Amino acid sequence: MMDSYGRNINYLRLSVTGMCNLRCNYCMPEKGITKKAHKEIISLETIEQLAVSAVKLGFEKIRITGGEPLVRKGIIDVIQEIAQLKTRGLKDLGLTTNGTLLRNYADQLKKAGLTRVNVSLDSLDPEKYSQITRGGRLSDVLEGIQAAKEAKLLPLKLNVVLIGGVNDDEISEFVNLTLEDDVEVRFIELMPIGEASRWDQDHFLTGTEILKRVPELLPLAVKGQGAVARLYKLPNSKGRVGIISPLSNHFCNYCNRLRITPDGKLKPCLHSDLELDIRNYGEDYERFLLDGICAKPNRHYIQNENYEPILRNMNEIGG
Ligand code: GTP
Ligand code: 5AD
Ligand code: SF4
Repeated sequence: MMDSYGRNINYLRLSVTGMCNLRCNYCMPEKGITKKAHKEIISLETIEQLAVSAVKLGFEKIRITGGEPLVRKGIIDVIQEIAQLKTRGLKDLGLTTNGTLLRNYADQLKKAGLTRVNVSLDSLDPEKYSQITRGGRLSDVLEGIQAAKEAKLLPLKLNVVLIGGVNDDEISEFVNLTLEDDVEVRFIELMPIGEASRWDQDHFLTGTEILKRVPELLPLAVKGQGAVARLYKLPNSKGRVGIISPLSNHFCNYCNRLRITPDGKLKPCLHSDLELDIRNYGEDYERFLLDGICAKPNRHYIQNENYEPILRNMNEIGG
């Protein structure tokens, strides 16, 4: 479906829970996240129906996000249901996860029909990882990543949020992971959303920092419509490096996505407070999605002086 700016909107991101077993300091407050009442959260059935309607409208890509999607009970069954839509036009069914539970779920996810996973990993140093995630264990994610590879949830992407003064000393180490491993390591510019909107400027680095630190990186062919990462590789490496620069080089012109929050709101743009409420649509999910497409703004205005950071924390939006 085309939006008013000629963009083909074919990618739905479904955040299935705001809860997470970690507490990354840029994403969630340390305390005060309480489980929402059952009736405030969209049901698994509604999530499935939204996916069905999206595929009817021509969406080809669905991504399950959170919070941490694997903490939502029944999520494997939902993935299995959504995967059936591959016979009706769905081409790519992905999951964005912190990876700590993948050790137990990778095989089931593959069997359920999931195509691939993107795993968040912001440090390769166990202590720093624990600080950023407020208590997470690096070994859990590393084992999860291994399990995902063994289960052939491929291609595997690692998301590294670049945080000045925190993990920028690990850029080379992350890039070097691509030497022997067919993995895509993606550096993401920290965005001023929720917790991070109150952070000091020194924590915000631009994606070009990666190229300064690792000048050997060679650019790969131009990305396709809707791909957010610019791709590079080291000479002779098996894997690739992606740079996601929503701030310094925004990709709004290629934006192809809608987002659904766990409480049933549709966000036409990650960086706008505009939300449509599913409760106003009865069971007309197609109309809900179509209105979301029509409401998409042409771009974000984060860098404008009068931009007001959005109110929701990232854990409720799913990145
Ligand atoms: P692929 O399907 O593998 O390309 O995944 P993806 O990049 O669409 O999804 P993922 O959940 O791995 O998201 C990576 C990060 O890219 C997100 O956390 C955001 O930081 C950023 N991102 C994704 N979509 C948008 C967007 O529409 N606007 C902005 N500003 N950032 C986005
Ligand atoms: N800026 C950039 N990326 C973020 N993520 C969460 N919060 C932010 C932020 N403020 C990332 C997570 C995950 C992805 C879905 O979003 O680390 O990789
Ligand atoms: Fe959880 Fe992901 Fe947020 Fe970290 S960034 S607290 S892993 S939802």
